[in-house]
Amino acid sequence: MYKRIDGKEVSSYIKNQVKIEVEKLAEQGVEVSLAVIIVGNNPASRVYVNNKKKACEATGIISHEYALSEETSEAELLNLINKLNSDEKINGILCQLPLPEHIDEKKVIEAISPMKDVDCFHAVNVGKLWLGEYEFAACTPMGVMLLLDYYGIDVEGKNCVIIGRSNIVGKPMASLLLEKSATVTVCHSRTQNLSFFTKNADIVIAAVGKAKFVTADMIKEGAVVIDVGINRDENGKLCGDVDFENVKEKASYITPVPGGCGPMTIAVLMKNTLAAAKNQNNI
Ligand code: GUN
Repeated sequence: MYKRIDGKEVSSYIKNQVKIEVEKLAEQGVEVSLAVIIVGNNPASRVYVNNKKKACEATGIISHEYALSEETSEAELLNLINKLNSDEKINGILCQLPLPEHIDEKKVIEAISPMKDVDCFHAVNVGKLWLGEYEFAACTPMGVMLLLDYYGIDVEGKNCVIIGRSNIVGKPMASLLLEKSATVTVCHSRTQNLSFFTKNADIVIAAVGKAKFVTADMIKEGAVVIDVGINRDENGKLCGDVDFENVKEKASYITPVPGGCGPMTIAVLMKNTLAAAKNQNNI
């Protein structure tokens, strides 16, 4: 019998913890604030940004939205980031990706002060993450770690297979699992005989971006299956990278989509913003 991992429940728990700390800081006269930048009219980005703003409201974090037009130049965006970097009232800066094609994402990421980089995308923070000396961890992978922890799933010594090697999920996921002494394999689109790896995995983390890519025959009986994907199926319905209905029959624990990793990403963003504020106020 599988157990459904409830990301909504765990994210509420995390956000509540953040809220309590934000209230304590307010008593000391410290406000916590996040600048959210969105460029253009990508509908998915709009949904994510709205959800992030809602989470700010729920935790007492002040959010400032900067909605810029599709035509905004790279220089204008970098200028805004510079201003926010030196604005003492802003603790965290998040620039929603993807950006329009004429803007160099890498330049934008590197322009955000590492102290305010609550996404943990800046090279300094990525380096610190790999050294295990970090203030912020990448939101989605840290969300996965918190889910595993909440359900008492120990990763030490376990065979963990990550499918996907992106800078946002796959690579930082590997770092966080290694830090907890898991045995980590990172598979990707060029991996030969993917099933060989996934069938031996105690924990599979799918971050491929392909609807229902992970099928039941790829999974060991009793494995933990974490689905980071957000896709649309053939009927336009939201689904993950895992064929949930069939894989759940073999898994011991499994995350649904929606309601699994998605809410956790946002909860960790709130946690990181709080950490940034404490850090900047020497608390
Ligand atoms: N686009 C998709 N995921 C993310 C994320 O976690 N942060 C930002 N800034 N953009 C994203």
